[in-house]
Amino acid sequence: MHGMSEYVKVASTGEIAPGQMMPIEAKGVKLLLARVGDAYFAAQRKCPHLGFNLCRGKLEGRAVVCPLHKAKFDLATGEIERDPRLLFIGMKAKSDLATYPTKIEDGAVLVAI
Ligand code: FES
Repeated sequence: MHGMSEYVKVASTGEIAPGQMMPIEAKGVKLLLARVGDAYFAAQRKCPHLGFNLCRGKLEGRAVVCPLHKAKFDLATGEIERDPRLLFIGMKAKSDLATYPTKIEDGAVLVAI
């Protein structure tokens, strides 16, 4: 499977409640896992702006808001929904958020990476 993504187990479904995020690691890559209702989303843990830990941010629907400069990313697509800003100064994130497909199998959450 060299160079291809494969599903790896990162958590069990009971470890994370709806509306919560938790840090996970898959193949040595630090990610965040978010649960929205019964949907699970995996994404890079570092904010594409200045690298803040997005697990310490807030979920708004299926989007995560970075606590540092309030950039907002859709966890399903990785798209930036709101640019970071500092007081009244608008800033740009370097990229969208990297996201990874998830699936549930036998009570386990798997992430394709
Ligand atoms: S580090 Fe996340 S918005 Fe600035």
